[in-house]
Amino acid sequence: MTSLKKIIINDTEVEVDGAMTIIQTAQIAGVEILRFCYHERLSIAGNTRTCLVEVVV
Ligand code: FES
Repeated sequence: MTSLKKIIINDTEVEVDGAMTIIQTAQIAGVEILRFCYHERLSIAGNTRTCLVEVVV
């Protein structure tokens, strides 16, 4: 069981499952993150680094 987390992406606050990726969270917030090797139905490869974002905790 995962908890809900409040995340702010580009000034838009969303509440999502804590197990979601940043790419998935951004999608919910309506923010597109450029990606090349990510696909929601495949394991995370992380080869291209096209999806790099800045995270502030
Ligand atoms: S989309 Fe390839 S590393 Fe993120």
